[in-house]
Amino acid sequence: MAVSANLTKLIDAAAPFWAGEAEVFQTYWDWPRRSRETDRRWLAYQCSKEVWGSGLAPLDKGIFLGPAEELIAAFPKIDTEIDRHKVLDIAEGLYAEFAHYCAFADAYDALALPGEPKLTPHMVKIAWKEDRDLTELRFAHRREHPRLGQRATHFTEGGYCTLFSAGMTLKDRASGPHGRANALIAEACRKVYDDEFGHMLKGIVGLDGEGLTEAEWKLLADISIAQLKARIIMRNAQFSRPLSEARVQEIFAGACAPIEFDYERAKLAA
Ligand SMILES: [Fe+2]
Ligand SMILES: [Fe+2]
Repeated sequence: MAVSANLTKLIDAAAPFWAGEAEVFQTYWDWPRRSRETDRRWLAYQCSKEVWGSGLAPLDKGIFLGPAEELIAAFPKIDTEIDRHKVLDIAEGLYAEFAHYCAFADAYDALALPGEPKLTPHMVKIAWKEDRDLTELRFAHRREHPRLGQRATHFTEGGYCTLFSAGMTLKDRASGPHGRANALIAEACRKVYDDEFGHMLKGIVGLDGEGLTEAEWKLLADISIAQLKARIIMRNAQFSRPLSEARVQEIFAGACAPIEFDYERAKLAA
């Protein structure tokens, strides 16, 4: 599928901020203050995102209960009011996000000491402040600009999967001080990566068919970048702040070399 000049521009504008998010993880893996506790904290926080959704779904339902209730409501209407593939899509989304929750919760539990309780979705219902800020920003964008706010939320979902691609590289570092944690994290990230690349593509596919005006493309870029910046702050806090405040500001000012968008994998032609 060919990509318009406007969509290429949006991807190019996002790419340095995806790289900034990746820098959080790359710095964290070898960070001197990394410990079993900081690993368990970010894993629990990730579980919170995978089950409660960071602004992708209403707060009280999250991305398990939300689609589960949608499925129950859809059942009597399949193929009369709602197309079967739409329903399958909802079921797939529920399955995928719960599989991600399981992958990270398994790693969290495997790093427990004897007597430490197992993770539950309810233990992680209250996200951390910076994740709530991201959620709030996404809700605000949707309130102010319903269509573009929704688009921006999907476009920024997963932050180009850099957590999962960075985590997968730990596979080759299964010895050393964090060897066991590295192996567990690499395995969890491997399970999640392909799904989340697909979720990001869903946020991109169709953008060119929306018939956006130049002004709307500009607004979409602006709110997407605001969300990507909020993601970097959210990630830095999730990982116990391996990046200094000064470095975060440098990243906001464009310090990172852009991540190269994989048009081939995305089956998009630039
Ligand atoms: Fe996920
Ligand atoms: Fe997802």
